[in-house]
Amino acid sequence: MVKMMIKRLTTGDEARACEISEKIYGRKIGPEQVSEFLTNPLNHLLAAYIGGELAAFLVAYELQRNDGLPNMMYLHRIDTLEQYRRRGAGRALITELKRICRERGVCKMWVLSETTEGALGLYAATGGRLCEGAAVMFEYEDFREMKGSIEE
Ligand SMILES: CC(C)(COP(=O)(O)OP(=O)(O)OC[C@H]1O[C@@H](n2cnc3c(N)ncnc32)[C@H](O)[C@@H]1OP(=O)(O)O)[C@@H](O)C(=O)NCCC(=O)NCCS
Repeated sequence: MVKMMIKRLTTGDEARACEISEKIYGRKIGPEQVSEFLTNPLNHLLAAYIGGELAAFLVAYELQRNDGLPNMMYLHRIDTLEQYRRRGAGRALITELKRICRERGVCKMWVLSETTEGALGLYAATGGRLCEGAAVMFEYEDFREMKGSIEE
C-alpha cells in the first residue's frame, strides 16, 4: 500500500512551500517569498504526500479574537492535485488540522465553501456542519497597484 504522510510546513520547509506554489497555484516563487509566512506560528500550511509526492495541501489561519475567547481557525484553502483525488488526502489534512485545533484549544474552525460537489462532500464528510443562512461573500479590488495612493 502507498504511504501517505502529512507534514506541517514551518521554517526550513521553504523548498516544499515553493513546490506547492508552483504545482498548485502555477506560480514559481523563491524561498524568501514564503519564509515570513512559515515563521508565523498562527499560519498553518499542511501538505499531504502520497508515495513521497506532493498530493494535496491546505492553508489555515489562526485568528485572534477581541472578546476574550481563544483563537479561531479559518480554513482558507484546500486542494488535492487531480491525479490524487478520492484517495483520502483531503480528509487526512482536515483531520490533522482538527487535531491542531484541539491541541491549541481553538474555539471554533470555519471555512467559506465553494458549492462544488467535492468541497461540500469533503466538509460534510469531516464533520463540518452547514450554517444555514450564512453570509454571502463580497470582495474588494486588488490593492497592489494602489499601494500608497489616497482614496478617491
Ligand atoms: C475538495 C477536494 C480538496 C477533496 O479532496 P480529496 O483529497 O479528493 O478528498 P478525500 O479523498 O479525502 O475525500 C474524503 C471524503 O470527502 C467526500 N468527497 C470528496 N470528493 C468528493 C466529490 N467529488 N463528490 C462528493 N464527495 C466527495 C467523500 O465523502 C470522501 O470520502 P470517500 O472517498 O470515502 O467517499 C478536491 O476535490 C479538490 O481539490 N477540489 C478542487 C479544489 C476545491 O474545491 N477546494 C475546496 C474549496 S472550498
